Amino acid sequence: YDHAEVKLSDNSNDRSCVMIKKYMDLFADRIKNMKVYEDDVWVVTFPKCGTTWTQEMIWLVNNDLDYKTAYDVNLNERFPFLELNGVLNKFDGDSVGICEKMQRPRHIKSHLPIFMLPDQLWTVKPKIIYVARNPKDVATSFFHHYRHIVGFEGTRIDFIRAFLNDQVIYAPFNEHVLDFWKIRDNENILFLHYEDMKRNMTAVVKEAMKFLGKNFSNDEVKELCDHLSVDSMRANPSCNNDALVEMAKKVNKNGKTSGDFKFIRRGQVGSFKEEFSEEINQQFEDYINQPCLIENGFKYKF
Ligand code: A3P
Repeated sequence: YDHAEVKLSDNSNDRSCVMIKKYMDLFADRIKNMKVYEDDVWVVTFPKCGTTWTQEMIWLVNNDLDYKTAYDVNLNERFPFLELNGVLNKFDGDSVGICEKMQRPRHIKSHLPIFMLPDQLWTVKPKIIYVARNPKDVATSFFHHYRHIVGFEGTRIDFIRAFLNDQVIYAPFNEHVLDFWKIRDNENILFLHYEDMKRNMTAVVKEAMKFLGKNFSNDEVKELCDHLSVDSMRANPSCNNDALVEMAKKVNKNGKTSGDFKFIRRGQVGSFKEEFSEEINQQFEDYINQPCLIENGFKYKF
């Protein structure tokens, strides 16, 4: 990460997205033209929407609750990060190549907006799980991520301003969510909300089982929900990204990564309340009431 974040535009439809140019120059075309398989399972999100949580749930459901492998093999290997894998685990470098060579059925994570994802996703139609989360909590979570993982040295207000101005990586946020909301009724799309997972994980697990054609007993579902609880996942080295946090501590020079930061942090709905002033909250109210969301019948959950 060297903060070389720039707005890249896609000429064909005049869309743009904030990305780290040095990675996207390497990968953008390969990703767009990547081969997709029918039995792939993709988790696509804007960062901090509960990606890791959803990946662990989806991987276990699709692998018939194989807890042994889930504990033995790191989630970043079972479910690699398409466009930024190199900084997350031992496969330094060619994240797309890792995904290309994976044994099928592949499980792939991406934060890319719809228009930067492989074209074949829309013809081959593998299962895609999209997770949305309210932007107040996303921005709060992302601020801590930027500060502790990326080494961002600005203030919370600096970060919030950048978020609301669509200047953080993968922005714009509303459009990211809306693009998937518009195709939520397609058979191969499962559109989830972080807040529903918090409120009723049993129901969400059952929805995921149906989507992936799996059938487990109520006891098995309960065991899975316990495995996926925030405390259990925070204590699970296979999916708590401790290695990433440790690496960030070494790489970042400003010392802000010291202390007890955990990738699986609060894991709550509404943690923005501890950090937002009334003024910031109002700015987010405007952001979540943009006409494009209302016109498409989309509402964030809280
Ligand atoms: P907070 O920073 O608000 O705590 P991502 O995986 O997309 O980066 O999302 C990270 C967010 O999901 C963090 O939010 C993290 O704590 C939360 N999260 C991760 N695992 C969770 C779990 N098992 N239950 C609830 N929230 C979880």
